[in-house]
Amino acid sequence: MRTLIVFATTHGCTESVVNELKEMLSGEVETINLKKDPNPSVADFDRVIIGGSIHAGQIQRRVKDFCQMALPALGDKQVGLFVCCMYEGAVAREQLQNAFPEELHQMAKTEAIFGGEFDFRKMNFVERMLVKKIAHVSESVSRIDHKAIDRFVAKMEKTFSPFMFLI
Ligand SMILES: Cc1cc2nc3c(=O)[nH]c(=O)nc-3n(C[C@H](O)[C@H](O)[C@H](O)COP(=O)(O)O)c2cc1C
Repeated sequence: MRTLIVFATTHGCTESVVNELKEMLSGEVETINLKKDPNPSVADFDRVIIGGSIHAGQIQRRVKDFCQMALPALGDKQVGLFVCCMYEGAVAREQLQNAFPEELHQMAKTEAIFGGEFDFRKMNFVERMLVKKIAHVSESVSRIDHKAIDRFVAKMEKTFSPFMFLI
């Protein structure tokens, strides 16, 4: 089983989540940061996981562009989708929904919201100001949902057998 994890990150949180996924998934796992390679080939992989982070309600443009380009080649893959973000509940679910094209949601084996981090050391002046004003947070905080990562991996690893009912 060969897995490709394609991602975009702004301040590094998504990259740390991707590294966690890489450790947990079985088989061979390759990771690609879309900033370094905007249009990687998915041809040699059985599973393709796509993720990014939400800023001002949107996932990175690079992720959207990759999804459009890769869509025709993803039909026979096991697809997993995720976002890192700080909102929870209905807002987070809406952000996840808007992050990926409908066709990709339809074909996804699983989707997840992994939480996120506010890292003030990595933000510029404007970002710091926005986060203080909108999220009312003034210190770095990490809210990565490791249980959601566990559940995502468990679902990606699950294989369907037509003879399951005999066991
Ligand atoms: C300027 C800024 C805007 C953000 N906007 C949103 C947002 O609209 N919705 C949300 O849920 N999280 C928002 N976040 C939180 C990020 O999604 C969170 O910091 C995430 O962990 C970033 O991941 P990254 O380091 O991989 O880019 C924002 C963070 C910053 C710094």
